[in-house]
Amino acid sequence: MRYALIGCGRVSHNHIAAALDNGLEIVALCDLEIENAASLRDKFALPDSLPLFADYHEMLRVCQPELVAVATFSGTHADIAVDCIEAGCHVIIEKPIALSLADADRIIEAEKRMGVKVCANHQNRFNAAVQQMRAARRAGRFGKILYGTTAIRWSRDEAYYRSADWRGTWAQDGGTLMNQCIHAIDLLRWMLGNDVAEVVGMTDNLMHPYIEGEDFGLALLRFANGSYGVIEGSVNTFGGDWEETLTLFGEKGMAKLGGTCVNRVDAWRFADGDAAESQEVENCGENPPNVYGFGHKSLYADMISAICDDRKPYVDSAAGRRALETVLAIYRSAADGKPVKLPLPDCASTDFEGRFDGNVHS
Ligand SMILES: NC(=O)c1ccc[n+]([C@@H]2O[C@H](COP(=O)([O-])OP(=O)(O)OC[C@H]3O[C@@H](n4cnc5c(N)ncnc54)[C@H](O)[C@@H]3O)[C@@H](O)[C@H]2O)c1
Repeated sequence: MRYALIGCGRVSHNHIAAALDNGLEIVALCDLEIENAASLRDKFALPDSLPLFADYHEMLRVCQPELVAVATFSGTHADIAVDCIEAGCHVIIEKPIALSLADADRIIEAEKRMGVKVCANHQNRFNAAVQQMRAARRAGRFGKILYGTTAIRWSRDEAYYRSADWRGTWAQDGGTLMNQCIHAIDLLRWMLGNDVAEVVGMTDNLMHPYIEGEDFGLALLRFANGSYGVIEGSVNTFGGDWEETLTLFGEKGMAKLGGTCVNRVDAWRFADGDAAESQEVENCGENPPNVYGFGHKSLYADMISAICDDRKPYVDSAAGRRALETVLAIYRSAADGKPVKLPLPDCASTDFEGRFDGNVHS
């Protein structure tokens, strides 16, 4: 399958590794900064003859890829994805798929109209530990789910935010809930049944006065099925990335995933299980080199088979929209100081411009 990547920055290595591992034919790399595309080509020892483009329109026209991954600044995802879809390509869109619900809807409308597949790049769904929890959930082992919690206790310093102008801006990125925490927010909503009725949020910028968005967020979710969700997200954790956890509490079981990016099972207790099972599962996990994890490879494998079998990808565009909607609902509630009901009317990260301007904390 002919594959191209648009956006050759930090996360691009995971994409090229996943493309190679899955036997895709890489036909082009594209980046506004052509040297970023060149250094990616060199890092993976791709042929010198591999075409590099600064303009993705030209790349689509000349190379006609069947599958394109979009890993550019978040605020550019929707326009680029829609152009790729309209060129007839299947598309993997890095998270968040867009920064406004209107843009997410444009992607979904184009996907339907063109009859292609769109995958939202929430790769942690493929973590072995997450798959273990999902299987128990699907088998009904938790019984009625009472509530779930997620905590993203990471750290991003000034050098990270200053490494590129788009980071932490409302127009291109959002704050930590939209960037770092959206993976866990996707997992929580997915595990608890997707159908969120109401959201209460609080957000703040506690330690990063040079970014526009939040560096800290808290939220409560009430689901239509009667369960509850709790979210805590921070990039202010002293000493570096500490943990990303996901815990589900049901009437007949509980499970906690931990590690730096929900890559390990920390607790596993079920009424229909025994101590031996708990001990075995509690040792299960992966040790990725960074918080991006190993999931891109499986996500690509799933997307390729979704295209070949003409089925929805495991993480489809609707899932990407739901994760985005949850973050925007937290932003809306936090800004208005009151709960918001879902579905959320149109909302965009740029609606919150100026929210933390002048934040000074002693
Ligand atoms: N799934 C994950 O775990 C994960 C991890 C990191 C980043 N991301 C997401 O991936 C995206 C990129 O993040 P990053 O950290 O790699 O950013 P980055 O700034 O390191 O790289 C982005 C690259 O895109 C290029 N670019 C921007 N607009 C372009 C355009 N119109 N055409 C061609 N190239 C363009 C830039 O020149 C840059 O090289 C973001 O949306 C981010 O949220 C996801």
